[in-house]
Amino acid sequence: MNKDNIIWQIAIDGPAGVGKSTVAKLVAQKLGFKYIDTGAMYRAITYLVVHENIPMSDSAAIYALAQKANIEFKIENDKELVFINKINVTDAIRQDPVNTMVSTLSAQSLVRKVLVAIQQQLANSFSTVMDGRDIGTVVMPNAQLKIYLEASSAVRAQRRYMQLTDKGYKADLQEIELMINQRDEQDKARLASPLKPAPNAVIIDTDNLTMTEVIEAIINELNKVKSLTLH
Ligand code: CDP
Repeated sequence: MNKDNIIWQIAIDGPAGVGKSTVAKLVAQKLGFKYIDTGAMYRAITYLVVHENIPMSDSAAIYALAQKANIEFKIENDKELVFINKINVTDAIRQDPVNTMVSTLSAQSLVRKVLVAIQQQLANSFSTVMDGRDIGTVVMPNAQLKIYLEASSAVRAQRRYMQLTDKGYKADLQEIELMINQRDEQDKARLASPLKPAPNAVIIDTDNLTMTEVIEAIINELNKVKSLTLH
């Protein structure tokens, strides 16, 4: 098999605040693959729903809005920006009310249908590292490598706290832990693509690992897959 023709798909799933996006971004950078933050897509649609005053219960209106929405990722001055319908929502999607509403919206199968189709199109166009909740189970069921990151909720709250305060946002550690636990419960309990490891995912417990160690572990797993695929 010619390795130049392979489109690589690396799926990284796991609960809130486990460090998926940081790790996925760096793994993609190292490999020269595109990084796709699927959580940002659900967050951007949530932003639009809230700002257009559409009730969360109106799944038909939300579906119509998602179908028409134009989500764009851009990089400016090394900062990754997220736009929906040309509105820069980079900061707004990391704050309330999006934080508290996003898991309610993400439980709707119609919205998922729209976003999963976009994600699959991207994943089939170029080599990607994609992070989210259903990447290994639904979006890229044939990914060559599926990673599921785990960590205790205390460690995850601490990581999210650092991420927010590093960016200059105000944050309350206890409140963050409560919120990520609530969001995880919702994400795991929902009927539509619940958060769970894919049957063939490599599970990495990151409680006692640094970011660099997690990245190394993923690259190691990829090298194992590559040696099996290319020989
Ligand atoms: O960064 P964090 O892990 O806290 O969340 P995120 O990846 O930005 O995702 C925000 C929310 O979007 C999650 O809690 C899920 O409810 C939803 N989501 C999803 O349902 N499926 C995905 N593939 C990605 C996110």
